[in-house]
Amino acid sequence: MGRWLVLGGTRFLSRAVAAEALARGHEVVCVARGESGPVPDGASLVVADRDAPGALDALRGERFDAVVDVATMSLPWVRDALDALATTAGHWTFVSTLNVYADPATPGQGVDAPLLEPREAGDLADGPDAYGAVKVASEQAVRAGHPRSLVVRAGLICGPGDLSDRFGYWPARFARGGRALVPDVRDQPVQLVDVRDLAAWIVACGEEGRTGVFDGSGPRSTLGAVLDEIAAAVGAPDLVLVPLAPAALEAAGVAPWSGPRSLPLWLPDTHTGIAARDTAPAAAAGLRCRPIADTVRASLEHERSLGVGRERKAGLTPAEEAALLPPAP
Ligand SMILES: NC(=O)c1ccc[n+]([C@@H]2O[C@H](COP(=O)([O-])OP(=O)(O)OC[C@H]3O[C@@H](n4cnc5c(N)ncnc54)[C@H](OP(=O)(O)O)[C@@H]3O)[C@@H](O)[C@H]2O)c1
Repeated sequence: MGRWLVLGGTRFLSRAVAAEALARGHEVVCVARGESGPVPDGASLVVADRDAPGALDALRGERFDAVVDVATMSLPWVRDALDALATTAGHWTFVSTLNVYADPATPGQGVDAPLLEPREAGDLADGPDAYGAVKVASEQAVRAGHPRSLVVRAGLICGPGDLSDRFGYWPARFARGGRALVPDVRDQPVQLVDVRDLAAWIVACGEEGRTGVFDGSGPRSTLGAVLDEIAAAVGAPDLVLVPLAPAALEAAGVAPWSGPRSLPLWLPDTHTGIAARDTAPAAAAGLRCRPIADTVRASLEHERSLGVGRERKAGLTPAEEAALLPPAP
């Protein structure tokens, strides 16, 4: 069995990667501040703040069979990690995003599609292009800095541990039953990946020494089909989906995708291509996606553990939704 280093490991994807590597018998070391939560049982935590100079010096030169870095939006973090560990790591995975692509509108594109111009620095608050552009620069650093690197451009990651409140909005909302407002865009593309499936694939790729660049997301579907699957999995007997046209939602100040007063998974026309990528290469390389019903059950459990009445980062409040619903026929 191997020795794995997970840069992260205290929440969501990186924690799922650490848990998966442990389950497959590897020794797992995680690096984080420890602020987001504990590492999975059996992993060890090296406490470090990657914003501090020389943050990874304690690990410099240590041998790892595989390193997984989820640095969200920091080229210095990526460079520092490579500087400390690239020569002694057997394989290097960098988790990137589908936001790296220059054209987020056209469906069916693959990993060779043009990318945004790389940027050295940016802030998540600067929007998806800034995020994507820093990821482009980070990908380039990894590809140049390690001879056996894998770049996984993740799509919308959902399932247990998701703190973005996006996918989870729908299972939580549908479980309340009654008349639920949905965007009237049934044919809009949607593409999702369960965090556990993505983590399992990342670990399998590390074990195999797989290299290259992949769009890491599930099969193409539509918003109508996904919402129907969520509704069926939740099974609230009195649930009725009430579609409202995008123009009416926009006029009422409802945002697509994320944030307060939003309807998650709904995409502006300018960005629907990001949910219609060609993910056949990832599937051929072993990414297996579970049925959405399974993700829904785990997401609902997670939502309930967080408290379904909490102030959400994404979605409509019950009062906002009630004010927007057309009168019942
Ligand atoms: N969520 C999505 O739908 C989505 C979609 C596409 C791509 N992605 C990508 O997927 C990855 C998600 O990673 P994730 O789920 O593990 O979540 P994350 O929110 O990126 O957290 C990753 C880890 O970073 C650690 N961390 C944060 N600040 C740190 C610091 N200053 N020093 C050291 N460690 C620090 C956190 O631990 P502590 O707080 O304990 O330090 C945590 O363990 C990212 O690369 C993201 O860009 C996500």
